[in-house]
Amino acid sequence: MIIAIDGPAASGKGTMARLLSEHFNLPHLDTGLTFRAVAHALLVAEQPLDDENLAEAAAQSLDLGALDRSVLSAHEIGEAASRVAVMPRVRQALLEAQRSFASQPGGAVLDGRDIGTVVCPDADVKLFVTASPEVRAQRRTDEILGKGGRADFETILADVRKRDERDSNRAVAPLVPAEDAHLLDTSKLDIESAFQQAVSIVEEIRG
Ligand code: C5P
Repeated sequence: MIIAIDGPAASGKGTMARLLSEHFNLPHLDTGLTFRAVAHALLVAEQPLDDENLAEAAAQSLDLGALDRSVLSAHEIGEAASRVAVMPRVRQALLEAQRSFASQPGGAVLDGRDIGTVVCPDADVKLFVTASPEVRAQRRTDEILGKGGRADFETILADVRKRDERDSNRAVAPLVPAEDAHLLDTSKLDIESAFQQAVSIVEEIRG
């Protein structure tokens, strides 16, 4: 069974994917980390983020087993990731790794922006998790403050809007719900209620 979860930054899709993978005992790939890893490799090597040859080479040498969330989850790396994510050859290189993860026996949970539309268009279950920009910016701000970092709500809100704009308007694999995706708006739902709704959707489809 393949569960495809898409949605914008800080919508709750990552938590949802993790909870569903634990509940249904399926391996999970956060595809955002793959784009983040490419951006991080370029930043560490002090290479530009807009050179498609360099970014493609970084994507081709990516090791899915070595994705380190504690390093890659930084807010600035998300911003850099959305810049490398507009490049078709970067997406193509990562697509191969993402599809091979999805095709393992028994299935998988993948989350990102284009899982239901491009990576796994035949996924058994497709969820599109959203929330208003303000709610998402508040969550991101709280998350950073909770880890002892510094965060300013207005700056984060502007970043969230900029990233939505870039992800939704790019030419290749833009952020859009698949036609057959179930929409889950988490603006007014806590994660536990949203998770229960998602479990019901998966069980209904499985049944
Ligand atoms: O989900 P996360 O915030 O980690 O993703 C970082 C960036 O990677 C996104 O803003 C988006 O530009 C890109 N991305 C993508 N396609 C995916 C997952 C992430 O373009 N499937």
